[in-house]
Amino acid sequence: MSDDPYALAAEAAAELRRRFAVDTLDLAFVLGSGWSAAADDLGEVLGRCSLAELPGFAAPTVVGHGGELQIVRTAAGKLAALFTGRTHYYEGRGVAQVVHGVRTAAAAGVRTLVLTNGCGGLNPDWAPGTAVLIRDHINLTAASPLVGARFVDMTDAYAPRLRELARSVDPDLPDGVYVQFHGPNFETPAEVRMAGVLGGDLVGMSTALDTIAAREAGLDVLGISLVTNLAAGISPTPLHHEEVLEAGREAAPRLRTLLAGLAGVL
Ligand code: HPA
Repeated sequence: MSDDPYALAAEAAAELRRRFAVDTLDLAFVLGSGWSAAADDLGEVLGRCSLAELPGFAAPTVVGHGGELQIVRTAAGKLAALFTGRTHYYEGRGVAQVVHGVRTAAAAGVRTLVLTNGCGGLNPDWAPGTAVLIRDHINLTAASPLVGARFVDMTDAYAPRLRELARSVDPDLPDGVYVQFHGPNFETPAEVRMAGVLGGDLVGMSTALDTIAAREAGLDVLGISLVTNLAAGISPTPLHHEEVLEAGREAAPRLRTLLAGLAGVL
């Protein structure tokens, strides 16, 4: 296996093409906390494997995050890769490992990437279970998947055109700015207030790094957060991973409708 993350992604993409006998993929969905159970209506599943069977992927370590790759033909006739789970930066495996799925998708021909996550919400009007389109992000991890003079433009990193398409499926979807923290501890109330002062609406532990890698590869990104809880200090009660999972389970029917609708228009 290669040390070069781009070459490793090309190896994984070649293995994916061989294993599933596909030439090229159109779309990829990365399903974060709360989203995996909502993937059943995306289309016809043509094949599936454990992510760990492909070059460069690590088995996921977090309860509630699956670790599968599915190849799906959507109702719109597109070929999509579905990643039910991701490596998080807080796992300590390095940022190249975090974005390996995105780079593999890009190397397999994907042009449109849907990144989903579970997160804390700053807006008290967004009850747990609310899906929010990501309009922009603030990366507070102090890391980037890019090494060297790779000056990637991050204007409209989350494609306005794709947000419009999402709103053609559900006109009520709000939008907000996602702030990625390192994790794995949840934020302190002071950190949540800081995120708000900086212009953030959502706090979480993923997505921004994936989006940077995706934009480098020229992918159009649609980001959707599921608010699983009010963020620390806004929520009157302490945060638990279990409540995050529970909010995902409860929201699954609505998320399923949203993802199925998206698969029809993307
Ligand atoms: N903060 C960070 N990540 C999260 C949260 C949160 O409140 N909820 C779910 N993932």
